[in-house]
Amino acid sequence: MKGMVLTGIKPTGTPHIGNLVGAIEPVVRLARDYDRSTIFIADLHALNAVTDAGAIARWTHEVALALLAAGIDPDRTLFFRQSDVPEVYQLTLLLMNVTPKGLMNRAHAYKASIDANAAAGRDPDVGVNMGLYTYPILMAADILLYGADCVPVGKDQKQHVEFARDIANSFNTLYRGEHLRTPEPVVFAGGEMIPGLDGRKMSKSYNNTIPLFASDKEVWNLVKKIKTDSRGVGEPKEPDSLSLFQIYRHLGTSEEAATLRSDLEGGIGYGDAKKRLAELIDRRLEPFRAAAASPGAEERVETVLREGAERARTLARETVATVQQAMLGRSAV
Ligand code: ADP
Ligand code: TRP
Repeated sequence: MKGMVLTGIKPTGTPHIGNLVGAIEPVVRLARDYDRSTIFIADLHALNAVTDAGAIARWTHEVALALLAAGIDPDRTLFFRQSDVPEVYQLTLLLMNVTPKGLMNRAHAYKASIDANAAAGRDPDVGVNMGLYTYPILMAADILLYGADCVPVGKDQKQHVEFARDIANSFNTLYRGEHLRTPEPVVFAGGEMIPGLDGRKMSKSYNNTIPLFASDKEVWNLVKKIKTDSRGVGEPKEPDSLSLFQIYRHLGTSEEAATLRSDLEGGIGYGDAKKRLAELIDRRLEPFRAAAASPGAEERVETVLREGAERARTLARETVATVQQAMLGRSAV
């Protein structure tokens, strides 16, 4: 496809199989489909919530390694770490001047925080820092720096991409010119949620995940914990109501899913079904384990990210220069 696809992935935890199927694999497919692609690890976006620097650095590496192991080719895709491109700080500050405060007041994440405070009878802004409040401006800067055409995101992030459009449009109107390209949001197809061990959505926040870098022993210990009902061996099961089947279905081929479905309906025990699920997960996690175990993996990821940032900065500097020229009458970089 023509044009440039861009997305950022926030390193707020160890990536898990929900992230793999819901974000990492779709991003890798899009990067292959478009003529140009830009993918970065959005570590600056983690800062409004995570204050453990070591954790951010570790998760950044894990997410980067996962993307590379899933098939991102850094020679074809501009692939880097957000904080390695300081121009994003510059553009964020410049864009603040064309961003109405009212737009930020409407942002879902900020509204959820103030609504929770109101419900608890607290001052509305308790726990709300300016990183959270201005989050959509940083994200607009990410998108507009590189001239993205298409921005694939989860449902919860669609509003932020629309804000980036609004900000680009008001900039272009105020400064009379097509200085910034306006992006289109694309919500990940399907958007189906993989359940976690406890049946709720698999999420870092619920501590119910199967991490991408888990060993086979860890996988088996986690799979054993998946909730089932009390039907015994020989009794017909209801695959659609079972987390273990939902996870299996998302990871396996359609033939594998059909076989497990009919075996469950035919009465195989949960122990057997869990063994099959663990085997499938082990197969799917193999490339990630291998990438993590390969000697020098850490240094290689670091080199790839730094080289990507060098290339990203060339584009980013041009955009900042254009914006400064429009706003200040001179380019200050
Ligand atoms: P988490 O809920 O673990 O914190 P994030 O909110 O950081 O995950 O999600 C990052 C990306 O992974 C999003 O695009 C989201 O849609 C996808 N994702 C997360 N959890 C799941 C899941 N259980 N099933 C499918 N996709 C998921
Ligand atoms: N805010 C996104 C999230 O929480 C991550 C992100 C940061 C992003 N910058 C972006 C996504 C730019 C798309 C485009 O998932």
